[in-house]
Amino acid sequence: MVKIILMLRYLLYSFQVIIRNGIVEVTIENPSGYLTGIRYKKVNNILEGRHRSDNRGYWDIISDHCPMDRLVTKNFKVITRTDEIVELSFTKKWNSTTDYHKTVPLNIDKRFIVRRGVPGLYMYGIFEREEDFPDASMDHIRIAFKLREDRFRFMALSDSRQRIMPSTDDRSSSRARTLAFKEAVVLTNPSDPQLKGEVDDKYQYSTENKDNKLHGWISDDDAVGFWIITPSSEFRAGGPHKQGLTSHPGATSLCMLVTAHYAGKDFDTTYKKGEHWKKVFGPAFIYLNSASSSNDHRKTLWMDAKRQLNEEIESWPYNFTRSQDFPHAEQRGEVSGQLLVRDRYTDKGLVPAQSAFVVLAAPGDAGSWQRDGKGYQFWTQADTNGHFDIKNVRPGEYNLYAWVHGFIGDYKLDLNITIQPGNKISLGTLIYDPPRNGPTLWEIGIPDRTASEFFIPEPDPMLVNSLCLDEADKYRQYGLWDRYSDIYSHSDLVYTIGTSNYSQDWFFAHVPRNVRNNTLRPTTWQIKYNLQEITKTGTYTLQLALASASFAEVQVRFNDPDAVRPHFTTRRIGYDNAVARHGIHGIFRLYSIEVTGNRFEKGENTIFLTQSRSKGAFNAVITFGDKDVEVYKISRAYIVRSNNAPPIAWGLPRVRLLSTMRKRG
Ligand SMILES: *[C@@H]1O[C@H](CO)[C@@H](O)[C@H](O)[C@H]1NC(C)=O
Ligand SMILES: *[C@@H]1O[C@H](CO)[C@@H](O)[C@H](O)[C@H]1NC(C)=O
Ligand SMILES: *[C@@H]1O[C@H](CO)[C@@H](O)[C@H](O)[C@H]1NC(C)=O
Ligand SMILES: *[C@@H]1O[C@H](CO)[C@@H](O)[C@H](O)[C@H]1NC(C)=O
Ligand SMILES: *[C@@H]1O[C@H](CO)[C@@H](O)[C@H](O)[C@H]1NC(C)=O
Repeated sequence: MVKIILMLRYLLYSFQVIIRNGIVEVTIENPSGYLTGIRYKKVNNILEGRHRSDNRGYWDIISDHCPMDRLVTKNFKVITRTDEIVELSFTKKWNSTTDYHKTVPLNIDKRFIVRRGVPGLYMYGIFEREEDFPDASMDHIRIAFKLREDRFRFMALSDSRQRIMPSTDDRSSSRARTLAFKEAVVLTNPSDPQLKGEVDDKYQYSTENKDNKLHGWISDDDAVGFWIITPSSEFRAGGPHKQGLTSHPGATSLCMLVTAHYAGKDFDTTYKKGEHWKKVFGPAFIYLNSASSSNDHRKTLWMDAKRQLNEEIESWPYNFTRSQDFPHAEQRGEVSGQLLVRDRYTDKGLVPAQSAFVVLAAPGDAGSWQRDGKGYQFWTQADTNGHFDIKNVRPGEYNLYAWVHGFIGDYKLDLNITIQPGNKISLGTLIYDPPRNGPTLWEIGIPDRTASEFFIPEPDPMLVNSLCLDEADKYRQYGLWDRYSDIYSHSDLVYTIGTSNYSQDWFFAHVPRNVRNNTLRPTTWQIKYNLQEITKTGTYTLQLALASASFAEVQVRFNDPDAVRPHFTTRRIGYDNAVARHGIHGIFRLYSIEVTGNRFEKGENTIFLTQSRSKGAFNAVITFGDKDVEVYKISRAYIVRSNNAPPIAWGLPRVRLLSTMRKRG
């Protein structure tokens, strides 16, 4: 029987705590709580030994109070120490006299667990803000691991997104050229010639919360894998579609716990004085595996890591943690029900909300879960009949929200749901009425909150990242925003209802035009459509669903492009930075714009969509996210007829492409 051994060692002016279970040996600096060593198989240290002890395995927070705080702790305590398990706690209480503007106003408890027979390490943190702590934002909370760079070269984050990664040195100025912002480079002289000419940008390796369960690195020399397994995203705010980073060169592996990327300032990560807040982040599992060195060891390690992920999900919520703040299964509740959609003006009656995303999050407005950066969230996907069952919900007060693929808008149940330990709440049948004032006259795209069904251009052939070659990852290529000006070099996009095809003729992002020499100009897109019958006194509705917005303003004009005052403007919206970060969506926004029939002509009509903001240096924007990038994405635009207008049948005739649409390269 293997015992777990815990020892304290004094080395180079610092104490170290070492936990061994015969499979792994984990070294943590005492009392800072820095993870400095992970020994596994023949690898003396999985972490980069050339780095200082504060730069190998650490928690950090990016905050306005203190730009980057590595959460150094002051006390060390053994929580459990048996033959089965060791749990350690590294803590710090924030002190306003000594810590003001030096560290984030936060009490910290970092926990490390090693179990008998388990090749890895569990980590979780309990963070608390007392009521009298000063205001602070905490935009990004994460655990970072810097792996031994000479060994860990191969990265995997999904079945299709796996590759040999460039090294830190490959990104240096002698080996790479920086593109429009410092995160993106093209590798001109990489140490591995295979990578020559490739683009590298850490945002190309982002993933949505719902998919961010397993990613890691492989050492080909040792046939050893290092994996971050996150069996539950309950502590990751922003909902199932919130995106965040995973890994990047330098063999850096990130366990993102909260991140404002792809949402920006609209994501609420501001903590106010007077507000008590406490939250458990994790546990996450650092899993190590090995294979015999064969040609296929990468596949063996990845498949084994996926198997392990399922095992971790099965044992969630973990029952071996000791913090009172992490409730075990019997202390949690469950919420189930069935969601149906009643789309008036279609004759389908009630239809199941098939595969709907159903979210329990802090009470708020419909859709507010996208912006909630502080609370716990629990979500699931409904089955084909709209049945959903959200298990393992922590006690607390929630609202139930949902969105359904193919139907516009946000569902919210008008009821505060209080979960108490052991609760099983059955909500019965719930009905979602999508916002709609009449039957649809025409629509562009699918209500799916992304721009993925629209035209996504090929990247410049000189700026390709081969990790994004898959059709589903095409939008992650670098520089697609520039292709708009290449394709629409003379005039802006014109979309004709009935003849245009949105997968070819509707550019995925409404970006400014690069006129020449990086001078940007606003652009106006036109939607042309034919109306045979008009109810002049009726009210029509134009619904505009935006998949993302960054420092943008959309102005809508009906039939009169020169009207000084637009019929409608979104005003300046968005900080998502999704286009620059190669995301196909950011925060979802829906506008229902009313217009009376006397604005329309019998026959040809045109809607002018102007994205009016186009000043500011593009690269300043992307790097710091606080300047002007002027882009927005339309996830769907459609117009509905007024209630009292006669029905008109619209179909797609047989003609297709507009001559203005030419792919290059
Ligand atoms: C905060 O630090 C000051 C200065 O070292 C000390 O006098 C005080 O007792 C500390 N407060 C708490 C609550 O620990
Ligand atoms: C803890 O969870 C594991 C895995 O789900 C299970 O096998 C074990 O019996 C549980 N232990 C206790 C004490 O409940
Ligand atoms: C639901 O909870 C919110 C936030 O706690 C509160 O403001 C609201 O009044 C509650 N609504 C009801 C109906 O209890
Ligand atoms: C629209 O274009 C896509 C992609 O080229 C094609 O698969 C689809 O059939 C087209 N739709 C129509 C109605 O022509
Ligand atoms: C292009 O911009 C640069 C830098 O602003 C300027 O020096 C140069 O004169 C411009 N060239 C033209 C043709 O406008």
